[in-house]
Amino acid sequence: MILQTHTSLKPYNTFGLDVNAHHFCQVSNLNEFKQAISESKEKQHLIIGGGSNIVLTKDYEGIVILNKIEGIQLVEETESYVKIKANSGENWHQFVLYCIENNWGGIENLSLIPGTIGAAPMQNIGAYGVEIVNVFDSLEALNLETLELETFLKLQCEFGYRESVFKRKLKGQYFIYSVTFILTKNHQLNIDYGDIQTTLQAHNVDPEKATIQQVSNAVIEIRQSKLPNPAVLGNSGSFFKNPTISTAHFQQLKIDFPEIKGYEQPNGVKVPAGWLIEQCGWKGKRVGETGSHVKQALVLVNYGNATGNEVHALALDIIKSVKEKYGIILEPEVNII
Ligand code: EPU
Repeated sequence: MILQTHTSLKPYNTFGLDVNAHHFCQVSNLNEFKQAISESKEKQHLIIGGGSNIVLTKDYEGIVILNKIEGIQLVEETESYVKIKANSGENWHQFVLYCIENNWGGIENLSLIPGTIGAAPMQNIGAYGVEIVNVFDSLEALNLETLELETFLKLQCEFGYRESVFKRKLKGQYFIYSVTFILTKNHQLNIDYGDIQTTLQAHNVDPEKATIQQVSNAVIEIRQSKLPNPAVLGNSGSFFKNPTISTAHFQQLKIDFPEIKGYEQPNGVKVPAGWLIEQCGWKGKRVGETGSHVKQALVLVNYGNATGNEVHALALDIIKSVKEKYGIILEPEVNII
């Protein structure tokens, strides 16, 4: 493990923000990770996987640890399912493709999500009706105090919409080392999402008879049509969460804005943040080097030389206008650092 100083983080965050880390290292196994953490005892640390969920607003004064701990292992196989363990530095999408090649189903709807295996349970990634919680078996996390590995079962992770215990109660206390998934051999496709059906049909695929490969291809096509490729236009996917508001609040808004969309939840009504932002006039609007994406208002982008502060300022302006028009406070999905 080589400890570098004053390293640009531009290649390591999908927003493409150019800030420096005072100290930086890349780790490829658990021992190297422990070594890096020991080095950082006196300093703050930031663990980066794919860097796809962060907005870096200033130079990082501590140590940035880039997780490159790779490896995939089949831990159990029966006639109907497999349990497969992946180390946290593995690229998420490559893992999805590997599972599809092996005809293991359950994560095809999560194709093309940027980031790593370790980030997946951290924020319970989700798309097109599937979340990590649906295929999750357990994970191993390193306790950063004791440097011992601990196993977390599903309930202990307290998964919610883009939430887990690691973002809340246990924030900063653990490093997710590996994740074990339960995947199917006899697949139960999840293709209720309208866009998936339409895309399959456009390729003359009967949705009832689709393979996991075809569903994955459809998801990739949908994502590519709406979401900017971070390698071309810096971004970190959805910038805000879709807010859940009270039923009373939604009913009032429905009177004032009859075209508002809402999805009923146990605790209220979920409203699409992309719609709210678009209605406030932000969609496709460029502000300096940043802006809201022309095809998906919920995605903020870097046109080349944006600073984290510029992106943050735009996010605050968007929050303000949505609050003023709808009385809804948007909460960022990304971590602003
Ligand atoms: N909408 C607009 N204008 C926009 C964008 C969206 O009116 O500019 C409306 C759409 O018409 C649609 C609704 O909002 O009725 C939902 O839009 P979409 O299907 O594109 O999904 P989303 O709610 O904006 C969420 C996830 C995405 C995930 C998609 C598909 C969140 C915060 N985002 O987006 O996840 O891929 O659903 O399931 O929940 C991510 O988390 O980074 C991410 C990309």
